[in-house]
Amino acid sequence: MTAIKIIIKKALKNRPVPFFIAKAALNILNLNYIFHFFKFLFHKIKIYFCYLFQIKVEADYFLKCGISPTRLKALEALLNLQITEFLKKKYSRKFVYIEVGAFLGKTTEILGSLLKKRLGDNFQIIVIDPFIPYTKIFFYDFIISSVHKYFIHNMKVTGLFKYLFFIKNFSSIGFKILKNKKIHYDFCFVDGSHKYHDVLKDIKNFSKIRLIDYGNKSYKGVLVGDDYEFSYEELCIIDKKKEKIILNLKKNNLYNDSMVCYENYWFHPGVTFAIHDSGLKINKDINGLWFLN
Ligand SMILES: C[S@@+](CC[C@H](N)C(=O)[O-])C[C@H]1O[C@@H](n2cnc3c(N)ncnc32)[C@H](O)[C@@H]1O
Repeated sequence: MTAIKIIIKKALKNRPVPFFIAKAALNILNLNYIFHFFKFLFHKIKIYFCYLFQIKVEADYFLKCGISPTRLKALEALLNLQITEFLKKKYSRKFVYIEVGAFLGKTTEILGSLLKKRLGDNFQIIVIDPFIPYTKIFFYDFIISSVHKYFIHNMKVTGLFKYLFFIKNFSSIGFKILKNKKIHYDFCFVDGSHKYHDVLKDIKNFSKIRLIDYGNKSYKGVLVGDDYEFSYEELCIIDKKKEKIILNLKKNNLYNDSMVCYENYWFHPGVTFAIHDSGLKINKDINGLWFLN
């Protein structure tokens, strides 16, 4: 956009009348909006194309959200281990996988395919997501309510829809429903809201309904979460003297869903501080996942 403005400015340098006409036209039309409008049009055409030809809706300029490929690999490895444990116990019940925050269902698809490959039909996927604006990030909040349809479409295209129990609500409500139904999980992945109070609630709630086999103590449901770039302890090591600044960082970011930069390190404050305050012994892997096993 700025480049276009510079080119026009140079071209019309010694011609004040066309210059002012061009400037007025640019201001009226605001090329930025036109640019986004065409991008959005292209995005919509892509969506109709996906519906028409039964293709998955993938992330794009407007659908920017999802787990990183390295974390997805690490998550797959954790699920693989848990499936092995489950198979060793020769349970006759179904393996229960819960996902909090699904967006387009990229993780649901990868982990669902792994479950299908190793367990046949012997598993159930429970997804909890309200699909309503929550970030105050313009495009994200603009698009999120449509993502619900794309998620369901993607589950149908990937053949996972028949294993799906979908709760279109906040994780706190989803948790109550599952608790009332006495559902316990083998594996739960939390990647919903990244705001401090939401993460804290998710950790506390979902750690309560993991499956613990008392007759067979070595088997426990695994709770995993995304976006744990730095632990509280690691932040303190970065800056030993400034614990007060770190606590201010927490106070100023209680309602922040996104990452912040501290001393050149990017991290999700909501996740880091909620894990620290949960009082649970939560592990951190090198890829930025947290887990309780
Ligand atoms: C980071 S995206 C999830 C990405 C997804 N796990 C993936 O791998 O592609 C966050 C999702 O969490 C959902 N979400 C936001 N607040 C939530 C809440 N309180 N409970 C459950 N889900 C929530 C959003 O609607 C969004 O779909």
